[in-house]
Amino acid sequence: MRLFFVLLTLALSLAARDDYFFETPYLQLGKRPAATSGALDLMWLGHDKDVDFKVEYKSSGGWMPAAVSQVRRVDFAGTPPHRVYAASLEKLKPGVRFSYRVSVGGKTVFEAASMSRKSANQNTHFVVFGDCAAKTGGQRAVAYHASLEKPDYIFITGDIVYSRGRVSEYQTNFWPIYSHATADPKKGAPLLQSTLFTAVVGNHDSQSPIEFEKNPDPLAFYLYWSQPVNGPATGLDHPSVPQFKGDAALQAKFLAATKDTFPGMANFSFDYGNVHWTILDSNPYVDWSTPAFRQWVLNDLKAAAKAKWRIIGLHHPPFNSSKAHFSYQRMRVLADIFEQGKADLVLAGHVHNYQRTHPLTFAVEAGFELGKKQEVPGKWTLDKSFDGERNQKPKGVIYIVTGAGGASLYNQEQTADKASWQEFTTRFVSTVHSFSVIDTTAKQLRFRQIGEDGKELDRFTISR
Ligand SMILES: [Fe+2]
Repeated sequence: MRLFFVLLTLALSLAARDDYFFETPYLQLGKRPAATSGALDLMWLGHDKDVDFKVEYKSSGGWMPAAVSQVRRVDFAGTPPHRVYAASLEKLKPGVRFSYRVSVGGKTVFEAASMSRKSANQNTHFVVFGDCAAKTGGQRAVAYHASLEKPDYIFITGDIVYSRGRVSEYQTNFWPIYSHATADPKKGAPLLQSTLFTAVVGNHDSQSPIEFEKNPDPLAFYLYWSQPVNGPATGLDHPSVPQFKGDAALQAKFLAATKDTFPGMANFSFDYGNVHWTILDSNPYVDWSTPAFRQWVLNDLKAAAKAKWRIIGLHHPPFNSSKAHFSYQRMRVLADIFEQGKADLVLAGHVHNYQRTHPLTFAVEAGFELGKKQEVPGKWTLDKSFDGERNQKPKGVIYIVTGAGGASLYNQEQTADKASWQEFTTRFVSTVHSFSVIDTTAKQLRFRQIGEDGKELDRFTISR
C-alpha cells in the first residue's frame, strides 16, 4: 500500500513536470569565456505556450532571484514546437555547491543542485567523452559511471547526437539518457540537471552543405547549447562555415532562431578553474591552415599562458592508429601552433575507441598545402621516456582519442594487435565503451580512462 502511494506521488510529480517542461533544466556556460565569477546559465525547454517561469538559486545565503528570458522558439518538422529558456545565475561565487528551483505561480515545479563555475586558482575534476548519444547500452553505462564521478563538468568531444544532430534526435537519443530521473547503468543518469555540459561539434552534428530537404531540423547544437562565441571571425558566407541548400523558408527560419549562436559557437575558448580550453570545429569544410585561423589559435593559447593547463578540444584526431578514419589527419596542420602555445593535451573523438600517444612534436612536410586533402605528411618526434608515472614531464603534446562514449566501437581487434598501432600510439583500448576523468591542481594533471564497467583502463600524470 505504502509503495502504491510512493509510486502515485512520483507519477503525479512527473506529470506536473511534464505540464511545464518539454525537457527539464540543464546547465550551460553561456557566452562567458572568462571564469571571473561562478556564473552559469540554467536553461530548459518549455512547451509552446506562455508560462511565467521564476528561477531562484542559493549557495550559502538565502534564495536569490535570477533573470529569466525566452531565448528562442524551436519549430521544425518532426518535433512539437517548443521554447528554449535561460536564467542567468549571475551572482554565484566560484566553485560552490548551489541549489536552484523553478516555480510557476508560486509552486515549485523543479529543483536540483549543482556546482558553480570555478575560477583560475581552483582545482578541477571533470569528465570527457565523445561519439555518445546513439541510444545504446554503452551510452547509458558511460552516463551512469560518469555520474558516479560527480564531475565539476562534462566536455563532449563531438558527435554529440546521432545520426545527424537533429532536433528530433535530441528528443530520442540525448535528453532521455542524460536527464534520466535516476542513475542506472542500464538507463542513464540525471546528469544534465546537476552537471554543466560543454561540447564541440563533430561531423554528425554539423556538415556542409546542410541539405534542408533531406534534413529539415538540423544543427540542433546551435538551438540548445549556449557557449562562448569568441572564435575567429567568420560569418555566413565564410568558406569555413557550413553552407545551406534547399528549402529557403526553412533556412531563413533556422537563421532567425540562431542569430546569437550560428556560426560563432563552432569555435571558441573558455576557462574553467585552472584549465584553459580551446575548442575547434575540425570538420572538412574548415581550413585550419588559413593564416587568420592559425593566428587566432596561437593568440588564444598565448593569452592563456598564465592558466595552469591548456587543453584543445576537437572532434577529428590529428593522430590516430585505428584503421577506421586513419587517413583523416587534417588537424595536424595546427600541431606546431599547439606546441608553440604550450598545449598540454589534445582531446578528440570521431574514432570510437580510446587511444593515447606518446608526447610528440610534429613538423608538416615542407611545401605541403592542405586544400581538400585529408592526409598530412610530416615527421613526428616522440618522447618515449615519458610514462606518466616515474617520468611525469612530457616533451611534447599528448593526443588522446576518447570517442568511446556510446556509438559502436571501432577496430576492437586492434586492442591486442600492437603491431597494427602507429609508432606514436602507446595505449589503444577498443573493447569497451569508456570515458576520461581528469583532475587538475596547480602542479599536477591526473588523467584516467574508465570503462563502461567502472574499471580503470589507463592512467598517467603530468607534473609541473
Ligand atoms: Fe565523428
